[in-house]
Amino acid sequence: MAPPYFLLHFLLPLFTVVPFTRAASQISPPVSLPGCRNKCGNITVPYPFGFEPNCFREDSSQDFSLVCNESYNPPRLFISGDDREITDISPRGQLHILVTAKRACYNSSGDYISGTSASTYIAYGAGRPFVLSVSNNFYAVGCPNQGYFVDAVGYYVSGCVSACRPSQYSLGSTNGSCTGVGCCQSSIPSGLIYYEPYLQNFASSRNGIDPILFANHTNCSYVFLADSNWFQFDNSYLTRTNDFKVKVGMDWAVRNVGNCSYAKRNMTDFACRSLNHDCYNSDNGAGYLCNCSEGYQGNPYITEGCQDINECELKKEYPCYGDCTNTIGGFNCTCPRGTEGNATTKDGCRKKDNFTLALKIVTGASVGVFLVAFAGFWMYLGMQKRRLIRTRQQFFEQNGGVLLRQQMSSFKTTTFKIYTKEELEKATNKFSEDRVLGRGGHGIVYKGIFEDGTVAAIKRSKLMEEQETKEFAKEMLILAQINHKNVVKLLGCCLEVEVPMLVYEYISNGTLYHYIHKNNINAPIPLHERLRIAAESADALAYMHSSASPPILHGDVKTANILLDDNFVAKVSDFGASKLAPNDEAEIATLVQGTCGYLDPEYLLTCQLTDKSDVYSFAVIILELLTRKKALYFEGPEEDRSLASSFCVANKEGRFIEILDGQVRDEIKLEVLEEIGDLVMHCLNMNREERPTMREVADTLEKASKFQKKSSNEENHVEETESLLGDSVDIYTRDSSMSYSFAQQAIFDMESGRRRL
Ligand SMILES: *[C@@H]1O[C@H](CO)[C@@H](O)[C@H](O)[C@H]1NC(C)=O
Ligand SMILES: *[C@@H]1O[C@H](CO)[C@@H](O)[C@H](O)[C@H]1NC(C)=O
Ligand SMILES: *[C@@H]1O[C@H](CO)[C@@H](O)[C@H](O)[C@H]1NC(C)=O
Ligand SMILES: *[C@@H]1O[C@H](CO)[C@@H](O)[C@H](O)[C@H]1NC(C)=O
Ligand SMILES: *[C@@H]1O[C@H](CO)[C@@H](O)[C@H](O)[C@H]1NC(C)=O
Ligand SMILES: *[C@@H]1O[C@H](CO)[C@@H](O)[C@H](O)[C@H]1NC(C)=O
Ligand SMILES: *[C@@H]1O[C@H](CO)[C@@H](O)[C@H](O)[C@H]1NC(C)=O
Ligand SMILES: *[C@@H]1O[C@H](CO)[C@@H](O)[C@H](O)[C@H]1NC(C)=O
Ligand SMILES: *[C@@H]1O[C@H](CO)[C@@H](O)[C@H](O)[C@H]1NC(C)=O
Ligand SMILES: *[C@@H]1O[C@H](CO)[C@@H](O)[C@H](O)[C@H]1NC(C)=O
Ligand SMILES: *[C@@H]1O[C@H](CO)[C@@H](O)[C@H](O)[C@H]1NC(C)=O
Repeated sequence: MAPPYFLLHFLLPLFTVVPFTRAASQISPPVSLPGCRNKCGNITVPYPFGFEPNCFREDSSQDFSLVCNESYNPPRLFISGDDREITDISPRGQLHILVTAKRACYNSSGDYISGTSASTYIAYGAGRPFVLSVSNNFYAVGCPNQGYFVDAVGYYVSGCVSACRPSQYSLGSTNGSCTGVGCCQSSIPSGLIYYEPYLQNFASSRNGIDPILFANHTNCSYVFLADSNWFQFDNSYLTRTNDFKVKVGMDWAVRNVGNCSYAKRNMTDFACRSLNHDCYNSDNGAGYLCNCSEGYQGNPYITEGCQDINECELKKEYPCYGDCTNTIGGFNCTCPRGTEGNATTKDGCRKKDNFTLALKIVTGASVGVFLVAFAGFWMYLGMQKRRLIRTRQQFFEQNGGVLLRQQMSSFKTTTFKIYTKEELEKATNKFSEDRVLGRGGHGIVYKGIFEDGTVAAIKRSKLMEEQETKEFAKEMLILAQINHKNVVKLLGCCLEVEVPMLVYEYISNGTLYHYIHKNNINAPIPLHERLRIAAESADALAYMHSSASPPILHGDVKTANILLDDNFVAKVSDFGASKLAPNDEAEIATLVQGTCGYLDPEYLLTCQLTDKSDVYSFAVIILELLTRKKALYFEGPEEDRSLASSFCVANKEGRFIEILDGQVRDEIKLEVLEEIGDLVMHCLNMNREERPTMREVADTLEKASKFQKKSSNEENHVEETESLLGDSVDIYTRDSSMSYSFAQQAIFDMESGRRRL
């Protein structure tokens, strides 16, 4: 199965790169001169040694030529002109040769019977670069045996005696140790270039020798020079009788000149050919050696023989646990980014303090930047909020909030509250459409539910003129103090907005307009109920007209502004449009308002709103209640389209009863009919001076209502009805010219009312 493609993509660079890098790192430094053979069998022969002419160093006194005899298998390496085989040769100045150990064998009586015929000496002399290595020891094996060797001039150099001991006097295990019994050894001095061994047969000269020494002597004894690192004595040597070869260590050097400093004088002769070499004096004999400088490897005796070591490829020799970079003559092993320490030791790299510091700085900086940004954002928000608050405060002040507050504290109106914008937004669900109770000329009324569960009607007015808002707080304060059961209570306001919002008591049963016009037209409304509602409304208006100075005028009296609560008790509303009686013309001009069908004709002419304007408008309400016709209606003849005018016409012609609605016609008592007709007639008088006061209207209506109620309840108790009626309507019935006396009374009352105001 083919490997997934991504794996191929991953592996491919490895496959292509690895051989290349390996090839690059494996350009092995030259061992011998170009074109020269450097192998004999598996032995590598480095220059200055060599086989062919011009392949080994030739100086004035040294011979570095070697011979490789291919007739052996494997081929054997020899020093030329010598039968001693070289087993290994190192560029560092060592080599080993095989030399036959010197042997002597005796018969049981101790007489010499045979020995080695091959050369057991070593003599290379000054013509060769070799010196016997001090790593060699001189050994004498077998017992009794005395061995020694002499130098080129025959002087004793070193030797030892090996004895035999009876087994009953055993020294314990002597197997492997060459310490005098069966084997002895001695060190040799340095600088030896000549070795010639000798051994003494004690057996042949018995005289004067302790017999113990001869007891159980070995058949053969050996003496030889051998590399102490190589030769390991054991008891098997004691029974040997044949010849064997031992490894002798030799040190080689360039010895035609005694030392490096001297050698460097003649650069043509100087053996260290390569750049980046070191020259060091031989520590065994005269002469010098070359090696490649640190960081380089190869053969320093060859030009360009020393080459840079790519240490990064040789992790074993040059451990690096970090990032390795090879350099010429060295390498740079550094800890990975962000760490520090000794990358050449395992776990030597630790997280850098600088890094964490930098990290801290960066973190700190970013936190700082964040904080600054955050603070800036907060400041911005704060500024926005302050601006908002300032705007609100401006509105509050502009809307007379300060004055209102001051007055409130002095008036001690505890029920009146100044709401915040948020409270109202929350209560009206952000003035959502489904909370709209009604829309009018002055604004939109929302149903508001506050957190404490109280329900209120919140009126959001349309834009007001600045002049209008000037007196707003004052007016509102007065309105707030009005506590009349038939006036919709103003609970509070919100002045923080451009146009103040008003919070009213919530009236559940809708408007009177709706009750008499929109409700099931066939649903009967008892006349006394209608009169009661009218009386209550009138009472409220009368109270408003008389409770404050200057009087509070409604200005827009109509059935749509009279609300009905759960018990159909009338509540006059929309004093948001109401005004204190204006005192100057500028104010007058701006205050023309009201609703067609209810408007006082004189108000239209003079633009002056008075309490009598409310009275005129209220007369229309009475008519609406009795006829269940709208103030303006569009069915019937053109001249009769206004309820007020059609009443006037009908009343003059004595057919007031004809315009009343069927139920009223059935129920209404004659007395009540006449009183009401008269009252309305007076109220609709074109001359406002002729109109009765609201108080008078209220009283009349109340009495009429009570009378009507009593009489309808007690159809069967006629006797009681008479007396009650007589009591209640006496001011009208005393005089036959009732309407005149009514008017007189009204004028008087009005005048006295004025005086009172
Ligand atoms: C050469 O080969 C022989 C045997 O084949 C082995 O004993 C010896 O260690 C090898 N020498 C080197 C330097 O590899
Ligand atoms: C190689 O060794 C054989 C046998 O010892 C000898 O006859 C021959 O001459 C040698 N060849 C060289 C080139 O020394
Ligand atoms: C040992 O050799 C000597 C001299 O050749 C001889 O006289 C002697 O008898 C030999 N001893 C034995 C036990 O063969
Ligand atoms: C010496 O030789 C005798 C007889 O040849 C033998 O019994 C004895 O064990 C030998 N002693 C040693 C130490 O080999
Ligand atoms: C002596 O030591 C060698 C190697 O260390 C071992 O092969 C040999 O069996 C030993 N001989 C005795 C008698 O312990
Ligand atoms: C010495 O040689 C004789 C005869 O070859 C032999 O019987 C004897 O065991 C040898 N002694 C030793 C210690 O090897
Ligand atoms: C180097 O050798 C020369 C002559 O062989 C000798 O004069 C000189 O003292 C030697 N220098 C050292 C440091 O051995
Ligand atoms: C330098 O060495 C070369 C080659 O060994 C030799 O021919 C020459 O005479 C030497 N020069 C001196 C000044 O020793
Ligand atoms: C070169 O030889 C000198 C002297 O023996 C030694 O101190 C140094 O470590 C050697 N250099 C190399 C790279 O082996
Ligand atoms: C190793 O790298 C460090 C930093 O890169 C540098 O300062 C130093 O010199 C380099 N050392 C070598 C031997 O190149
Ligand atoms: C790193 O550790 C190695 C091995 O412990 C040591 O030889 C070397 O000197 C150390 N290098 C430094 C810069 O401490």
